Amino acid sequence: MKRMKVSQLLVETPGQEVIAKGWVRTKRGNKNVNFIALNDGSTIKNIQVVCETARFEEELLKQITTGSSLCVRGELVASQGSGQAVEIQAREIQIYGTADPEAYPLQKKGHSMEFLREIAHLRPRTNTFGAVLRIRHAMAFAIHKFFNDKGFVYIHTPLITASDAEGAGAMFQVTTLDVANPPRNEDGSINYTEDFFGKHTSLTVSGQLEGEMGATALGEIYTFGPTFRAENSNTPRHLAEFWMIEPEMAFYEIEDNMDLAEEFIKYLVQYALDHCMDDLQFLNDMFDKELIERLRSVTSTDFVRLTYTEGVDILMKSGVKFEYPVFWGADLQSEHERYLVEKHFGKPVILTDYPKDIKAFYMKQNEDGKTVRGMDVLFPKIGEIIGGSQREESLEKLQNRIQELQMDTRGLEWYLDSRRFGTVPHSGFGLGFERLLLFVTGMANIRDVIPFPRTPKNAEF
Ligand code: 4AD
Ligand code: MG
Repeated sequence: MKRMKVSQLLVETPGQEVIAKGWVRTKRGNKNVNFIALNDGSTIKNIQVVCETARFEEELLKQITTGSSLCVRGELVASQGSGQAVEIQAREIQIYGTADPEAYPLQKKGHSMEFLREIAHLRPRTNTFGAVLRIRHAMAFAIHKFFNDKGFVYIHTPLITASDAEGAGAMFQVTTLDVANPPRNEDGSINYTEDFFGKHTSLTVSGQLEGEMGATALGEIYTFGPTFRAENSNTPRHLAEFWMIEPEMAFYEIEDNMDLAEEFIKYLVQYALDHCMDDLQFLNDMFDKELIERLRSVTSTDFVRLTYTEGVDILMKSGVKFEYPVFWGADLQSEHERYLVEKHFGKPVILTDYPKDIKAFYMKQNEDGKTVRGMDVLFPKIGEIIGGSQREESLEKLQNRIQELQMDTRGLEWYLDSRRFGTVPHSGFGLGFERLLLFVTGMANIRDVIPFPRTPKNAEF
């Protein structure tokens, strides 16, 4: 007989012999009968296992404590108690592994998120992280489904790269040189020709540049992979290692790009509502009473679209004293973004046409000579969830911009070939996967929506 997952057991008809396997969440009872709540990760719900103490060795029952792992064989019966339709009348119990109550850290309920981060290797055993990780999986699946259904091609872009896609310089170096004693050139600088790749390399901050090569050949592509940023940002919204989804589309102008971004996010949120309701309900009840309502409202509202200039105008006229001052040309902070979204409009906002000096080199330049066709999607509780743009397709303009910024073109010649040969208007954007998950789960800290967070001074586990 095969094991049935708890998610399945809970919807099976009573009156059959079953096997369940999982980890004990709680055990309670009296001298005649014990009730074990067993969870196997397939759902937030537990299956109740009823053990008549007379049927089992006292020694065995004593070893069944929170965190121990069991195989239970018994009859699935209609439950007498409230709270569940069925339960298992245990006939045989095998203990796979005990969990010493003195040592197992997940005894009582209601641990702080900070404490759970210190035991990130065990926190998937909690209701909260089980829910978050199932939702994370569902969102990853929905992302592939969304693009696959539209005929986009999934492109795998490299994680090790010699180019700085965002031109921001916040990259982790990759080297096999002896850092204590690297080979040097005559002028004392490090001789990277002797490094593993024969040049200076880093972990990628974005797959976009390679993605553009895909889009200008296959039409519509997306990437979905880890990206790395060595920025020292200790905030609830920044990770040093995060996952990003980057679609890139030939023949799309900025309006098409905005339409796709809006459709994409709404699809994902709707997918969560349709497929993850048990987990969302739990998170809604435990952490954020407005979660489900907020998710529903996003799927049914048109995002506001306005220019950066209009946005800055609203912020300057708001009379609010922000921590960071607002003026035309300022890079907007999360507090500004959230003011627009939460206070002023009460819905998601797409800001466009940013000053060129605060955006990356590849964005399409507007006629005014001051702004570029960038777009950021701003969300309640999060601020920026998506960053994207129409790309500069003119070789000359792109080269001029690269020169203005004094970037090294030698490493970018391959990229410029897309503008040299059959250049086309094209656009794309990047959705931060963990930022999406912050929104969908209602979690307050980005460290709690990825299994093993990587942040400044923390690479534990
Ligand atoms: O705005 P960003 O830097 O844009 C790019 O990387 C472009 N190449 C995307 C593109 O056009 N293909 O990053 C995109 C998104 C942000 O909007 C944010 O959601 C997320 O990535 N992000 C981070 N998420 C977690 N931790 C960080 N340190 C992040 N930095 C950016
Ligand atoms: Mg950005």
